[in-house]
Amino acid sequence: MLRPPAPAAIPLPARPDLPRHIGIIMDGNGRWARQRHLPRVAGHRAGVRTIRPVMEACDQAGVHILTLYAFSTENWSRPRTEVSALMQLFGETIDREVDELDQNGVQIRVLGDRSRLSGRLRDKVAGAEARTAHNTDAILNVAINYGGRGEIVAAVRELAAAGFDLSQLDEETLSRALYTSGLPDPDLIIRTAGEMRISNFLLWQAAYAELYVTDTLWPDFGENALNDALYAYSARERRFGAVRERQSAQLIDFLHVTPAG
Ligand code: FPP
Repeated sequence: MLRPPAPAAIPLPARPDLPRHIGIIMDGNGRWARQRHLPRVAGHRAGVRTIRPVMEACDQAGVHILTLYAFSTENWSRPRTEVSALMQLFGETIDREVDELDQNGVQIRVLGDRSRLSGRLRDKVAGAEARTAHNTDAILNVAINYGGRGEIVAAVRELAAAGFDLSQLDEETLSRALYTSGLPDPDLIIRTAGEMRISNFLLWQAAYAELYVTDTLWPDFGENALNDALYAYSARERRFGAVRERQSAQLIDFLHVTPAG
């Protein structure tokens, strides 16, 4: 299993009330396409276009670790044409974006069981990871053929195969054996398109994450929607009382959001 180095050098968010690590379940591409009488793959293409503004908004807010759920282990059951279009899209996107991501100091990591990916895509993934491995300004994890349960099983198997005494297994050891080894757990999981499910995404790592579900379809999500999610996240913890309220007022300016009510 490939794992990122400890992100000691990854900068902290611009403000302490913002998340350090965000995970996103990018749902609703199919519905977006259907609304426009377009093929589903057009929705996925539009979904890819959403990633850049969202990364830019994360950068503005100082959120430097982003994990995108691009393809689950369950997604293989989609029609073959859709699966192959998605795989092609992953490869094309890597080819097109890797230079700029590298220039921007972004480290790319693919989380998941890559043994089922084509040799060509595996090579592209390995190339992008090797190329950006030294970057420490931000981390972009893309989960492809990823499932949270499978990740935990694979980690335990790997520890056993390495001779680790499983009767001594603890949370720290298991965390380190996951694809996200060394990364802080996500503070915020965003799901677009309204379903109130975690869908096998970062099961272990999301133990304490705040969940934010929006009806906005992923291709319609963007900088403003991301800032709304950040604002909602910041409002979840109220324990700092009056100081917190004052910070929220500053945050409204910082994120340019219009709070409801
Ligand atoms: C869910 O929408 C979306 C997916 C299964 C694919 C998400 C992938 C991308 C946006 C491409 C990402 C690419 C890279 C390189 C990171 P859905 O098809 O389930 O939508 P529906 O529920 O409305 O049908």
